[in-house]
Amino acid sequence: MTGNIEVQVLLELITKSATEALDEYGKYGDSVPSVYETNTHPLDEHKMSLRLKKAIRNLEGACDQLCATLAPPLHTIVNRAQDYYWSCLRVAAQNKIADLLDHTTGGMNLESLAHESGIEPSKLRILMRTLAARHCFQEVSHDVYANTRLSLVLHSQSSHTSYIDLLTKEGQESAGNFQKYLSDNEYSQCNDSTHTVFTHAVKDTGFHGTVYDWMKVNGDRRAVMSSSMPSMNSVMGTLSIIEGYPWEKISTVCDVGCGNGSFVWSLLQNFPQIHVTLFDLHETLEAAKQAAGCLSQELQSQIHFQPGDFFKDSLPKAVDIYYLRNIIHNWPDNDVLTILVSIKNVMGPQSRILIHDYTMHSFQNQSPHHSLDQAPWPMLPDFGNGSMRLHYQDLTMLFMYNSKERTLEEVKNLSQNAGLKLEQIRDLGETTVLEFGPA
Ligand SMILES: C[S@@+](CC[C@H](N)C(=O)[O-])C[C@H]1O[C@@H](n2cnc3c(N)ncnc32)[C@H](O)[C@@H]1O
Repeated sequence: MTGNIEVQVLLELITKSATEALDEYGKYGDSVPSVYETNTHPLDEHKMSLRLKKAIRNLEGACDQLCATLAPPLHTIVNRAQDYYWSCLRVAAQNKIADLLDHTTGGMNLESLAHESGIEPSKLRILMRTLAARHCFQEVSHDVYANTRLSLVLHSQSSHTSYIDLLTKEGQESAGNFQKYLSDNEYSQCNDSTHTVFTHAVKDTGFHGTVYDWMKVNGDRRAVMSSSMPSMNSVMGTLSIIEGYPWEKISTVCDVGCGNGSFVWSLLQNFPQIHVTLFDLHETLEAAKQAAGCLSQELQSQIHFQPGDFFKDSLPKAVDIYYLRNIIHNWPDNDVLTILVSIKNVMGPQSRILIHDYTMHSFQNQSPHHSLDQAPWPMLPDFGNGSMRLHYQDLTMLFMYNSKERTLEEVKNLSQNAGLKLEQIRDLGETTVLEFGPA
């Protein structure tokens, strides 16, 4: 029985990671605010520093393993099976509870909050105390509620509400349908993107097609998905690539499947010498054009908008960098191969492809030369709960697209089949950037 030793080592890891995190807060401002405060810290909105990201990954992995070791197994499994927190977050965000509390000093009593939010008081009390139990809102005195740093993320002005909406609607509806889907052989034995957990959940409405087809006829949900992307990228910390790549040597970039173009706005503000082509479906590109209004006229003149379908239409030729962020993970292997081959066909000798996604770690220890970080013993090499978002995203890809987040080996195999060679790996703490050249 090695449990006692594991607990000791986990406690040491927790102390070390928490100390590193505190140190990082100190570097960017005074000190970390209390979880009950509403004042923000520069690190809350600053793209998360790589060191903080790695410290939190250790901390979340070690704390979860510590609790799972010390609590009786039934305790842990029941907690996980009964986790309704997401549904309370959804109600709070949809009913703008954080906005209502924002206008008060010293909190708002239950009756007023019920009146303003339209939620029946006794039900609202249960919702609020559930959320407050994990520091999202607080009960400052009996039946009087106030915001916290966490609850402010749900504020309608925070720009994260679309993402919360997407995760707690399409995401959770799919999760609730997973077991039913798996027992329907007609759907679950099929690996194409029209037979997904999500499309199974909506098939009784007469719909048949991919999630993207469904979004076309549900324009309001497409808008939610589109406006979720900046928030999703902010959580993933993808903008670290702006500092983590030698963009000063680059003249042309094609953002393939650019979404609303948010990556390019940051890129151009830091590297104004770059000329960019934004490539996406017509409807999405229209939204990107609107969003480009945030840039100066000079920078806007460096953007070329090219509507197209990467399964049918040609991409621009011989661009320095073809950047694919959160694209490959949306598609099954055969479709990924089609996308990579069509880029390979237009690449020049100096062109490179950057695939920016999650890379699934192995649960087995890799050789010391393996290029992705590994957690120290006794944690799982992939950091366990510290990497849980990768596993949730992996499931989201399965639910929505019949796809997945891939391991390094899986991406390497696909790229080899497309005539590409992996040249460099950049580990950004949560996401990775894989750089490919022609083989
Ligand atoms: C998950 S989003 C990623 C957006 C962006 N790269 C980002 O990271 O914010 C996937 C994008 O792929 C685009 N897309 C889907 N199918 C496409 C196709 N056949 N051709 C071009 N773009 C497509 C979608 O419109 C969407 O903008």
